[in-house]
Amino acid sequence: MVEMNNRERKEEYPKLYIETYGCQMNIADSEVVVSVMQDKGYSVTEDIHEADVILVNTCSIRENAEQRVWGRLDVFKQIKKKKPSVKIGVIGCMAERLKEKLIEEEKMVDLVVGPDAYRELPLLLEDVESGQKAVNVILSKEETYADINPVRLDKNKISAFISIMRGCNNMCSYCIVPYVRGAERSRDPGSIMNEARDLFEKGYKEIVLIGQNVDSYHWKVENHEKSVTFAQLLESVAKISTDLRIRFSTSHPKDMSDDVLYVMAMYNNICNHIHLPAQSGSTRILEKMNRGYTREWYMDRIQAIKRILPDCAITTDLMTGFPGETEEDHQETLSLMREVNYDLAFMFKYSERPRTYAARHLKDDVKESDKTRRLTEIIDLQGELSAKSKKNDLGEVFEVLIEGVSKKSKDHFFGRNSQNKVVVFPRLNYKVGDYVEVEIIDCTSATLIGEVATKH
Ligand code: SAH
Ligand code: SF4
Ligand code: F3S
Repeated sequence: MVEMNNRERKEEYPKLYIETYGCQMNIADSEVVVSVMQDKGYSVTEDIHEADVILVNTCSIRENAEQRVWGRLDVFKQIKKKKPSVKIGVIGCMAERLKEKLIEEEKMVDLVVGPDAYRELPLLLEDVESGQKAVNVILSKEETYADINPVRLDKNKISAFISIMRGCNNMCSYCIVPYVRGAERSRDPGSIMNEARDLFEKGYKEIVLIGQNVDSYHWKVENHEKSVTFAQLLESVAKISTDLRIRFSTSHPKDMSDDVLYVMAMYNNICNHIHLPAQSGSTRILEKMNRGYTREWYMDRIQAIKRILPDCAITTDLMTGFPGETEEDHQETLSLMREVNYDLAFMFKYSERPRTYAARHLKDDVKESDKTRRLTEIIDLQGELSAKSKKNDLGEVFEVLIEGVSKKSKDHFFGRNSQNKVVVFPRLNYKVGDYVEVEIIDCTSATLIGEVATKH
């Protein structure tokens, strides 16, 4: 009888459909949003057509990231035409950047909520129910959602993000993040530890600590007698269990200390992978970007990684066509790539973002055709480096954490090694969440192919 009532009640729950764009921070935020909404009686649906509320968590990092969202809003508009009762909300970085303008430009949007106002979502939706438009884009100096238990939206239940800080103070001259995410603030380490322990108890095997610049994580208690740095936090999380893998992202070259590297070297379960965005190989451009380091400083950090963690994978972000970038600067980026030998890179064309220092003071003067050619050269070179990195793995044996069945073959699992490279191998009697020793026998452009190792 009780069960029946529950089921009947469930039918009445308003349904929330949520779509997420942008970085890991947004993925983690959507999990906070779902938690807030579930507490107020919403249930999540994956079918947009049965939704009562459609939320799109947006990214403003480059012009094309915003274009994608406008495209989606057109689709939602069609849905709302057929079902006028559905409420459409834009949340996240684009909501913060455009504020009320979003509703002015797209009348179908009912709700605009910035990244620090998610607790208010249910209340704002009540305003919308009563026929008003609702906007809350107030940024906070304190909000970290520390007490909210995110509802994990991933399918495999193996790996989860934990947001350890919010915002950014770095003011790289091209970047919109400080404007849409506000000032940097670190989250209470106690709440991070509780979340990590809870995930491990629920069967998760990997935790990714995330923030725009994890190296500047710094928790201070009120009297300033005690503080916790990123290296200390990393060590505490690693101690939860040797069966729990720890990853983190993003490291910042100007702040990445040897302390973090030594902690990584001490704990086998902290993965051997550092994402260290370089942006450019030219000191002149790095200075104009306000990155806070030179090429030499960056290379010193790379050498420290190679010295302290010889098996560590290094990945990066690169941007081409920043204002004033010459052919010479571009060549320096290519030579930096060769010098470091990146395992993988995310590569972008500079996109001018309103309000940033670069938009206000530097002319976007690299010709589009030059940006395209330079980006192609960067992508081609990275293709070679990535292939070389995989070839070096042939014959090696890696511990792989199984994440799921390979998309290409039902008889194979896929997982990742400590270096964050995807490995595919025969399923045998293993199951998702197992750690398996795999010997690499072949590779494609994106994947390592292996066999379960008989001896190691
Ligand atoms: N906090 C991270 C980066 C976050 S944004 C860091 O500092 O490394 C992710 C990447 O997007 C950046 O590393 C940069 O390469 C790229 N990016 C940021 N702003 C951009 C812009 N205006 N145009 C093109 N790429 C940009
Ligand atoms: Fe943007 Fe720089 Fe902050 Fe990264 S560190 S989010 S690039 S301002
Ligand atoms: Fe995009 Fe916002 Fe992340 S601008 S990259 S979603 S912090």
